[in-house]
Amino acid sequence: MTEWHDAAAADALSDDEVMGLSIAGVPVALFRQEGAFFALHDLCSHGAARLSDGFVENGCVECPLHQGLVDIRSGAPCSAPITEPVRSYPVRVVGDRIEIALN
Ligand code: FES
Repeated sequence: MTEWHDAAAADALSDDEVMGLSIAGVPVALFRQEGAFFALHDLCSHGAARLSDGFVENGCVECPLHQGLVDIRSGAPCSAPITEPVRSYPVRVVGDRIEIALN
């Protein structure tokens, strides 16, 4: 069964913004794109960098360390040097809260 965790207020983010969170001890980067929310594991698959410190543009987040790009919606790598996907987590909005599932 999916276990949902309270993450943030639904109005805490604007489009193209990202927020770094700790959900049950797991680092999560929460994004808003065109009014929808997406969550990725907040660690680049290439190295020790937080994607929540990255720059968001055109549906991707640019890693702050080596400027690799990751698709915010899927976690798929979009440019070198990132070759492995970043785990994405399900997100839902319940009332005025955003919830994230880690399993
Ligand atoms: Fe993210 Fe190298 S650590 S691109």
